[in-house]
Amino acid sequence: MKILVTGGTGFIGSHTVVELQQQGYEVVIVDNLSNSQADVVDAITSITGIKPHFEQFDLIDREKTSAFFKKHNDLSGVIHFAAFKAVGESVEKPLLYYRNNLVSLMNILESMIENNIPNLVFSSSCTVYGQPDVLPVSEKAPIKKAESPYGNTKQISEEVIFDTVKSSKLNAIALRYFNPIGAHESAKIGELPIGVPNNLVPFITQTAIGLRNQLSVFGEDYNTHDGTAVRDYIHVVDLAKAHVVAVRRMIESKMKQSFEIFNLGTGTGLSVLDVIKSFERVSGEKLNYKIVGRRAGDVEQVWADPTYSNEELGWKAMKTVDEMTASAWKWEKVYRGKR
Ligand code: UD1
Repeated sequence: MKILVTGGTGFIGSHTVVELQQQGYEVVIVDNLSNSQADVVDAITSITGIKPHFEQFDLIDREKTSAFFKKHNDLSGVIHFAAFKAVGESVEKPLLYYRNNLVSLMNILESMIENNIPNLVFSSSCTVYGQPDVLPVSEKAPIKKAESPYGNTKQISEEVIFDTVKSSKLNAIALRYFNPIGAHESAKIGELPIGVPNNLVPFITQTAIGLRNQLSVFGEDYNTHDGTAVRDYIHVVDLAKAHVVAVRRMIESKMKQSFEIFNLGTGTGLSVLDVIKSFERVSGEKLNYKIVGRRAGDVEQVWADPTYSNEELGWKAMKTVDEMTASAWKWEKVYRGKR
């Protein structure tokens, strides 16, 4: 069984490639390396002992995408991660986000249909819920107007997939991630944003290792238990495993409908300060942080109701927040050679 993983050298992509290979799937990676590095392929190989096939090109290039799929028309499925994901940047450069995230998706869908490749797993986000009226948020919650062009690309992508599935033989599963953090236990792959991190945990670990001076905690006046914003942090390996389950569900024709949607979260909301405390507890480091104003576009609190995923996929996030922050810290130390 051969699976294409787009964005397979990225954070979630690389962990998913490892899980797929360890479950016996053959993996082909396509990545343009816009936010990752080619040596991730070697790191994956050293974990699993199997070198994934890797092609570097941009999926917004229709001709290259089409040629790739013709060559690999024996794929059993596609897991599509490759996308831009910086919320703030998407506000500055909306067309960059719309073109990159939507054109690549359309090229992939067209090629899948042309080559009768039946199964797509799409990397979606809890951002589609905006600030939900009811917590925890289930898949039945209404889609709110997107807070950013990035969020809008996820909403539009789900609609594009929905319409395409209706008009073709394609099956699709959209996985709505909450906040993936942590790293593989081998510390050979992890979260490695190019440039200054936007996301909380890489900023924490890069501050503790001395690469950043200080973490800014965005806002302490939210209506939450300690005033800082609350999210559902999930270990990236738990998240990666859910992709393998989703692929298998499609291949084994266990889907209830040809387009399904699942939340991937733990069901627990943690504040920014909770995550910092966990990091300090597991690392023994004192983190240099200060409270600053809110970040534009941030929602106050969101965490998942994972009941449907747990029951229907038979999948459950298992790892604790301390395992998440400890693995992220181990990865940072190994990567920077300080261990
Ligand atoms: C958001 C989206 C998520 C998307 C991700 C892509 C929501 C609810 N979530 O995640 O779906 O996949 O962007 O990047 O829309 N923080 C700090 N200091 C920092 C960095 C972050 O205090 O230097 C705080 C943020 O204000 C937030 C929390 O940490 O409260 C998590 O932030 P981050 O890791 O950026 O993820 P989200 O913005 O929740």
